[in-house]
Amino acid sequence: MTYAAITGWGKCLPPAVLTNHDLSGMLDTSDEWIVSRTGISERRISHVGLEELAYVAAARALAAAGLAGSSVELIVFGTCSHDDQVPNMASGIQRRIGAQPAAAYDINTACTSFLYGLSTATALIRTGVVRNALVIGAELISPFMDWSDRNVAVLFGDGAAAVVLEASAREEGLLAEKLGCYGEAREILRVQGMGGTYANRGVLYGITRWQFEGQEIFKRAVAGMSGACEEALARVHKTAAEVDLVVPHQANLRIIEAVAKRAGLPMERVFVNIQRYGNMSSATVPVALCEALEARRVRAGALLLLPGFGGGLSFCAHAVRWGARVTPLGTTDVELPPNELPAAEILRRCLERKTHPAPGAASAHPFG
Ligand code: UT7
Repeated sequence: MTYAAITGWGKCLPPAVLTNHDLSGMLDTSDEWIVSRTGISERRISHVGLEELAYVAAARALAAAGLAGSSVELIVFGTCSHDDQVPNMASGIQRRIGAQPAAAYDINTACTSFLYGLSTATALIRTGVVRNALVIGAELISPFMDWSDRNVAVLFGDGAAAVVLEASAREEGLLAEKLGCYGEAREILRVQGMGGTYANRGVLYGITRWQFEGQEIFKRAVAGMSGACEEALARVHKTAAEVDLVVPHQANLRIIEAVAKRAGLPMERVFVNIQRYGNMSSATVPVALCEALEARRVRAGALLLLPGFGGGLSFCAHAVRWGARVTPLGTTDVELPPNELPAAEILRRCLERKTHPAPGAASAHPFG
């Protein structure tokens, strides 16, 4: 039997920090409201494009695995905030790491894109189609945010992370998962402005309006992730008591606490970093995984549970058996280009481009 061991991991967080206090100068909100309702204190705003963020994360994951970019056979890029739809994001990473002619595709299930990518890449390794894979979760939400809407602007941030999978005869890596979707309720989380529907009506790329029914999303997130955790554990014949660490999607601390309670898992066995990054959509779980490893919260042979939830409304939970190695084999000196700008100034310039588009660009107009 072939398994797909996780042999490398790497993250890339842009350095500019946007705090709740910064946001309360831009919107009718407060640090007290954001922390008490979400657990978020700050988030990152990127000064570079999505490919750059993802490339740095990928380079670090490859170094951690001791795998040359030229040896990679498959790249799966999970995102919903593409630099370009065509060509896809994965092909850009393939070129940057020198992995020609590796297979390269994008997956978009919003916040669960990394986990769905982990599923497909693992399946392709386990069936012998490829011998290894680079799986990325990366998002650049800030250019697509409606920064005038306090209901959503306080929740999200930018970031990227990646893992390397390699074929193994040992029983490790992703062992079982539950994937699902509440398609009947898909309208309760919709970003108007991202997609051909809007481009064909002349809406300038990046001008968005978010349909976001927070409380309804909250309920579905708790139900979807809890049910998926139960199902994933049943598929590996394990109980919550046997889970060493939960590394959940981080959209709201109260959601994480509710899922842990329903699953019968104490918060001591749940990794939380939402306070520093907010919801980075598909980057959230792999960044948290990297930080759990850095914090020595993942022991050799640990059973991990990775529940996720996102637009669609997609939900899932992945049961992962960690291997023997919990430290990286190597590091790289690949870094992001330096940034001198505070997060608020990066945002101000982004908004300036939206309201004063380049000559010849489509014009912004209200959604109908
Ligand atoms: O990755 C998956 C996608 N996202 C999620 O899973 C998010 C799921 N939902 C949530 O996390 C929560 O529902 C939110 C954090 C979005 C909202 O928390 P809530 O406790 O459900 O608040 P609410 O929507 O019931 O709003 C309570 C009040 C409202 O005022 P009124 O109508 O009671 O006067 C809002 O207008 O809080 C107001 N409010 C704010 N006040 C200050 C909403 N956003 C803010 C804000 N600052 N940023």
